[in-house]
Amino acid sequence: MKFLITAGPTREPIDPVRYISNRSSGKMGYAMARAALDAGHEVILISGPVQIAPPVDARLIPAVSSDEMFDAVHRHANGCDVCVMCAAVADYKPATVAKHKIKKTGQDMSLVLTPTRDILASLGTQDRQFLLVGFAAETDNVDQNALTKLRAKNCDIVVANDVSRPELGMESDENEVTIFFRNGEKEKIARNSKENVARALIKIFEKMREKCLTKKS
Ligand code: CTP
Repeated sequence: MKFLITAGPTREPIDPVRYISNRSSGKMGYAMARAALDAGHEVILISGPVQIAPPVDARLIPAVSSDEMFDAVHRHANGCDVCVMCAAVADYKPATVAKHKIKKTGQDMSLVLTPTRDILASLGTQDRQFLLVGFAAETDNVDQNALTKLRAKNCDIVVANDVSRPELGMESDENEVTIFFRNGEKEKIARNSKENVARALIKIFEKMREKCLTKKS
């Protein structure tokens, strides 16, 4: 199968030397890419700026801002069997990007932010040919928020993790996730290394993709 996986944070420029970003390390997305390759799949890894080396066999496409990631995803999604959106895409970006470095004035300043485009939601069209997987990083009401995201973004699967627990998620080496399916079923993967969680997730995605194909034929 052919997997498209997004990973890492995005950086939304303020001026030539500053940006808005988040704490995503990219570890979960890179672990997903490695697990998919190990299972014999082809992988396009669209990655924000991270400090880890990409798996050698993945086709790496770097993307810095949410707009770059949006364009890269849309260039490659068709023709893929499974699209997994692991990236922590910024929800807002500066409304304008200053051409020159903004000088300090000693006064308070405010920055006007505008929403970025939601990449996952933009892929959730009725006629898509790929299995669409979103991630949900939540600090509270994990189940309810994940299900709302699944419906709102029209995904096939949402993988939820509780990022309020410092030992799990965001920058850590371990994760514990709950997987939500469209039919309301859910499945938990107990706390484990991100590598093992990724391996278990890839198996579930393979099965779901096969099921979709069987339904269509
Ligand atoms: N996502 C995306 N494009 C965005 C924002 C999010 O593709 N501009 C994707 C993420 O890659 C993830 C899913 O949407 O697969 C959910 O991201 P998350 O940050 O948990 O939720 P948001 O939709 O941003 O909502 P909120 O931050 O309010 O929880």
